[in-house]
Amino acid sequence: MHNDPLLQPYQLKHLTLKNRIMISSHEPAYPEDGMPKGRYRAYHAERARAGVALTMTAGSASVARDSPPVFNNILAWKDEVVGWMRQLTDECHDHGAAVMIQLTHLGRRTRWDKADWLPVVSAGHEREAAHRAFPKKAEDWDIARLITDYADAAERMQAAGLDGIEIQAYGHLLDQFWSPLTNELDAPYGGSLDNRLRFTFEVLNEIRRRVGPDFIVGVRYTGDERLEGGFDREDGLEISRRLKESGLVDFLNVVRGHIDTDAGLTDVIPVQGMASAPHLDFAGEIRAATEFPTFHAAKIQDVATARHAIASGKLDMVGMTRAHMADPHIVAKIIAGEEERIRPCVGANYCLDRIYQGGLAFCVHNAATGREETMPHAIAPAEKKRRVVIVGAGPAGMEAARVAAERGHDVIVHEAANDPGGQVRLATQSERRREMISIIDWRFAECRRLGVTFHFNSFVDGDAVLAEKPDIVIIATGGLPHTDVMGAGDDLVVSAWDILTGDVKPGQNVLIYDDAGDYPALQAAEKIAETGAKVEIMTRDRSFAPEVMAMSLTPFMRALQKRDVTFTVTWKLQRVERDGNRLLATIDSDYGGVTRTRSVDQVIVNHGTRPLDDVYFALKPGSSNLGAVDYEALVAGDPQSVSANPDGAYQLFRIGDAVSARNIHAAIYDALRLVKDL
Ligand SMILES: Cc1cc2nc3c(=O)[nH]c(=O)nc-3n(C[C@H](O)[C@H](O)[C@H](O)COP(=O)(O)O)c2cc1C
Ligand code: SF4
Repeated sequence: MHNDPLLQPYQLKHLTLKNRIMISSHEPAYPEDGMPKGRYRAYHAERARAGVALTMTAGSASVARDSPPVFNNILAWKDEVVGWMRQLTDECHDHGAAVMIQLTHLGRRTRWDKADWLPVVSAGHEREAAHRAFPKKAEDWDIARLITDYADAAERMQAAGLDGIEIQAYGHLLDQFWSPLTNELDAPYGGSLDNRLRFTFEVLNEIRRRVGPDFIVGVRYTGDERLEGGFDREDGLEISRRLKESGLVDFLNVVRGHIDTDAGLTDVIPVQGMASAPHLDFAGEIRAATEFPTFHAAKIQDVATARHAIASGKLDMVGMTRAHMADPHIVAKIIAGEEERIRPCVGANYCLDRIYQGGLAFCVHNAATGREETMPHAIAPAEKKRRVVIVGAGPAGMEAARVAAERGHDVIVHEAANDPGGQVRLATQSERRREMISIIDWRFAECRRLGVTFHFNSFVDGDAVLAEKPDIVIIATGGLPHTDVMGAGDDLVVSAWDILTGDVKPGQNVLIYDDAGDYPALQAAEKIAETGAKVEIMTRDRSFAPEVMAMSLTPFMRALQKRDVTFTVTWKLQRVERDGNRLLATIDSDYGGVTRTRSVDQVIVNHGTRPLDDVYFALKPGSSNLGAVDYEALVAGDPQSVSANPDGAYQLFRIGDAVSARNIHAAIYDALRLVKDL
């Protein structure tokens, strides 16, 4: 262990980082009123306590009023940020972690209709596809005030006691000046590379003048835009050398690519099914060319890859950012020799996709992340050991089993299928979603370590559950696809699950009516289109697959657009009839007054699931709580004590899709917050 390259300290100027693992800058959208308050602090403190060497807080903390928050960023242009950042920094320092922050001006990567409704500013008028704002072209007085804004923000962070800052230059204002694609300015800020870099060096000079020579300042930048007409690898190497030679910065934090489109962003920060560590070699080339401290993060999810990144000399500090969202205790587990117990990041990207939809970043399978103030990452033992019977071994049932076993209870799980997993196993029928199985495999391994008893191929009814003499029964039986959505012809359609399981063969000319907007429709479409069939995905909504979200959609679009697949929005399936050996689908619209038809040979409906709840209702009358949940206690993190039936012999609860169709995160959160107090 002591020879582990990951656990060697790293000297960055006067700062000793205690190992080589960092959390790279990311904004989980946790600020309250633009400030990193309790939730934010608790999130970083948990990871600092577990041993991460450096946490680069705050993705894209805003240095200026005309860089309004698009994903609830920290407002570093406000003086009150100093007090909040000081609290966060002090708490992380107490645990031995270094703390820095990323500062930025988003340039055109924001919107004018946020916060103060100021015009968006950039080096040209070209809009960014992802945020759609047409920017104003920076004038001399913009440049002058923004240089001051950057330096003011840096000074605030120094005043708050942080160890350093990094400024962001990929897809944001600084590199909008660098790129010929976005810089439409004349000299002295447009034209030659010198001119395009001028603003950045003026910013860095002013920051350095204000914070002095010791404060650590780095740049997180793209070393290759990978865009026709943009700056390329050679330019990136030149920029890297100039950053080093300027003497103004202390480290380079390298990314590769462009983030102005969902697809571009997904290549910079790959999701599940995409290659692991795709830009590591590139970061290593920059380190070799500059011989300067180099940091990097991009889908380095597992300890072995991280170790390789350090041992091979490609990086000085390796970022494991989403990996730490999935498991905050990575470093502690490495030190304890328990690497195999690390809860794996499965690349579901639920965390990152949510922030672009205005949500908080939550991990698909760690419901305590971002909820550290109320949800534990380490489960405390119960005062009294009880017998817990769980029906169903999908994500909800497996999480319930894991948490109950951590509490020290006697846990028995019955599962009708011959393997655990439920809908997660179904999801992994697509190659690109195979990583999802780790959600189940990790829990299964933890449950076995904790002595949970599993009965597979065990389809239980109420009596069979009662025969176990339970103190607590948890029903996590999930649901079954619901396809009865029309006035006529429901019997002629099949579900997306039927295609994924292989129970139904794909047709040649297929209409997929997707009313749920989640993964099964896209997965079924891909499987069908791969056979060469023609597929139309139709939804009554204004956009398709809203539950899949932007970056997670990218690999599907890449696969589907290459095939014979079309997308139709705002049309609704009304009925299906037989028409010879084909099917005639009639469609209409919520806007009214129109109908059309489609002649196809297969209609697939994706409309979520309906609960499988027979066992629950069979057991309800004999339970002490009659199935009721005290929501106030649940939300407050207090034990459940509903006593509605004095004769009841056991408490009964129902979680996950057995209650109503939701998603994996909801199922796991249901389980964690209920069972942690049982
Ligand atoms: C929720 C979330 C928000 C992020 N926000 C930022 C950001 O504001 N600035 C930034 O440079 N990177 C941001 N990132 C990217 C991460 O720093 C990191 O580069 C990326 O997650 C890839 O590393 P990983 O595979 O170890 O997670 C964000 C990532 C996540 C998950
Ligand atoms: S949501 Fe997915 S990508 Fe994000 S941290 Fe969790 S497992 Fe990793």
